[in-house]
Parts: sequence; structure tokens; C-alpha cells
Amino acid sequence: MAKVVFENVYKSYPRRRAEDSSVLSDSSPAKIEGEKNAPAQKSGTHGVSVSVLRNINFTVEDGEFMVLVGPSGCGKSTLLRMLAGLEELTGGNIWVGDRLINNLPPKERDIAMVFQNYALYPHLNVYDNIAFGLRRTINQSFKSNWIEDILTGMTSSLPRGLRYLSAKEKEIAKRVKYVAGLLQIESLLNRLPKELSGGQKQRVALGRAIARNPQVFLMDEPLSNLDAKLRTTTRAQIVQLQRQLGTTTIYVTHDQTEAMTMGDRIAVMNEGKIQQIAPPLEIYHHPVNRFVAGFIGSPPMNFIPVRYAAPLTLTHPQFRLTLPETWTKPLQGYKETRLLLGIRPEHLSLSNSNEQNLAVIVNLVEALGNETYLSVHLAKDKNSTLQVKIPGDKSIARGDLLHLAIDLNKIHLFTEDKGESLMSNR
Ligand SMILES: Nc1ncnc2c1ncn2[C@@H]1O[C@H](COP(=O)(O)OP(=O)(O)OP(=O)(O)O)[C@@H](O)[C@H]1O
Ligand SMILES: [Mg+2]
Repeated sequence: MAKVVFENVYKSYPRRRAEDSSVLSDSSPAKIEGEKNAPAQKSGTHGVSVSVLRNINFTVEDGEFMVLVGPSGCGKSTLLRMLAGLEELTGGNIWVGDRLINNLPPKERDIAMVFQNYALYPHLNVYDNIAFGLRRTINQSFKSNWIEDILTGMTSSLPRGLRYLSAKEKEIAKRVKYVAGLLQIESLLNRLPKELSGGQKQRVALGRAIARNPQVFLMDEPLSNLDAKLRTTTRAQIVQLQRQLGTTTIYVTHDQTEAMTMGDRIAVMNEGKIQQIAPPLEIYHHPVNRFVAGFIGSPPMNFIPVRYAAPLTLTHPQFRLTLPETWTKPLQGYKETRLLLGIRPEHLSLSNSNEQNLAVIVNLVEALGNETYLSVHLAKDKNSTLQVKIPGDKSIARGDLLHLAIDLNKIHLFTEDKGESLMSNR
């Protein structure tokens, strides 16, 4: 096992002529290289390139389970692929343990990667799929014996029980059985991938990674092909296995529940940069900027532009709030200014009409049974949208006028321009 260190890592792709105009559009997460401290480009047409990862600096500790999240195209897979050796770095260093791996070929990195599409060998049964990587890696530790090689070759087409098992094959059989036991797929070892369900294929793909006993596991949305129930059970299995094996793991997901529940820490990425790395609840309760605040949490946090007046007043055409004393320090130095008020949907509750509360009109009601999600707009601003989470026993209809109280101990404030959280001054 080993820790993984990303040190000032950059990645750019040469910019193609056809992309010249499209790549600059706002919707594209990729940016034209132009940062200070960015490394000189190794390639690119006329020296211009599209930067997809910038200034990545973080450490995944030995045995840690790190979850990596971010919008589509922000560079998550690229980062894993660089660690696995499937992409070259444009700048910076990656260390696994005390080995600098930048220039090592993939097979010498001792890293196993599980992809979203399981990529099993269709003509090999489950046993041989799991054994495949082992045959290559275990080779180094067993001296070649020509008699055994001949016997193995002569009997290789026989059913597995009748094949000659060299010392190496015995070791492989031991590992395959151990892994199959862990993943509860012992009864499937003779089946071909086409004879397996999606969840079973996924477990075989995991088994193949686990069997190699690598220093690091990389998993790129490994559960996204599974149905909801299977996702839940496989999710729990992966967490349990990781704890049992203690293998340093980086896990990419788009799923909020997976992000919040699986890892020791979450790394949130946007536009090729790390935004925040922290334990899940810290990210949830203390997001460092508006992006992280809006990305983690479902339904997402609400943002309302407000005016701040010293010492502790927030005003909006529809309401006026007095902040708790705890905000004195973070707001020090601010006079009258515009800020962004952040409120999570669960921190709004049904109340009565008063100047602290928000008068809203209901646009949509989603009753889930245990709780109800409301989509509403401020009564005097039809273009605003807020999400509200309330207990499932309230009966509310579209078009209703409601008064919502804000839990003032749970609010967030962000600067209007850069979206930085003022809470970080607290
Ligand atoms: N070979 C390539 N050449 C040029 N650009 C590429 C190449 N591979 C990826 N990109 C670009 O790099 C950016 C990051 O891609 P990446 O696959 O890492 O995103 P991601 O975060 O994994 O997204 P998703 O969540 O959709 O899987 C994207 O803008 C993508 O278009
Ligand atoms: Mg990806």
C-alpha cells in the first residue's frame, strides 16, 4: 500500500484547428492555457493548447478512500488515467509511495483501474478473467520451468480440473478463489461474461482489480451501469472491501449518495482545478465557495443576492435578517456591500408572515412520502427559483402562498464576485 501525491500536475491537449472557435465558448470546461506558473507546453499547434487540468496538488494518504467529484468534462478521468499511465503528464509529478511514476510504463506502476464499462474479455470465463492480470504480474516471482511450461501447454485446453497446475497456476488459483469468496462469485467462475448480469460483471471487474493486490485502486464510475438496488449493495461491498484490504483508493462518481457515504474525504473539481478537499460532512457544512456549495447536496443549495449593512443586517426587497453574533468576525471589514446568501433546502421551514421570512409561491410539489420537495419562487420575483425540503406529512398544492423561515444558524454567505465563502474567516 502507498500514498499517492499529485505535485503541481498539469495536462493540456494540443488544440485542433477545427476546435479553435468552439473551445472558447463558456459552456466548455476546457480553457486556453494562459496561467501563471503553468509549465511550458511540450506540444501543440503554434504553441496553443487546451488546458484540462491545472495546478493539481493533493495527497491521498496510505489506505485512504478518496472520492473525486465534479461536473462532466472537469478532468476526473484524465487525472486517473495519468496516474494509471494511460495519459502523459504535461507538467508536474505523481508519486506512488516514494516512487516517482511519471515515466514508468503502466504495468510497472502497480495500480489497478476499474472502469464504468467493465471491459471483461468476452471469450474468457470468470476464472480466467480474474486470473488474466495475475498471470502477467505473478510471472516475475516464479522462475520459468520448461517441463512445467510444456505440461501446462499440453493440458491447457482440458477442463480446469484436469489441467496441469504449475506452482504459479496454484498460486493464481489460490488468489482467484480468495477474491471470488470476498465478492461472492464462487459459483460463477466457469461462466462467460455474456452469461452474467450487470452486477455480476461489475463484481468480476472488481475481482480482477483486487486479485492483483495493487498498491492503488482507481475506480471511474464503476457502478453507474447498475440499477438502484444493486448500486446500494455493491456500494456497501466496495466500502467494506476497501476497509478490509486497506488499499489506497480513488473513486470517481456523479452520485451524491456515493460521494457523501463512501470516502474518507471528497475532492471536488471544477474546470480542471481542485476546489476543495475535505471529509464529506465538512464539505457539506463548510463549502469554501459557491461552486462547492451548489455542487454537493441534493436538491442543491439556494442562492439569493442580498445587501449587507454593518454590523449584522442583510436586506432584500422582500425580507430583512439579523445575523447571529457568530458572523461578527467573518464580516469584519465589510461595510455596505452585496453578498450572496446560501440556504440549503432543508434549512427553510414553513412559518408565518413576518419581515424575517420569505413569502413564496409554490411552482411544483414532489411528495416522496417521507419528505416533500417544493420548487417555489419569491412572491415578488417570478424569475427566482428556490428548492425547499419539508416533512412528508404537510399537504401543499401548486400556487399556494407560503411563508418560509430561514434557519439563521445554518446559512452561508459568499462574496458576489468570486463566490468565496465568508465562513472561512470564521
Ligand atoms: N484525447 C483528448 N484530446 C483532447 N481533449 C480531450 C481528450 N481527452 C479528454 N479531453 C478533454 O478533457 C476534458 C476532461 O475530460 P475527462 O474525460 O477527464 O472529464 P471527466 O471529468 O472524466 O468527465 P465525465 O464526468 O463526463 O466522465 C474534457 O473537456 C475533454 O473533452
Ligand atoms: Mg470521466
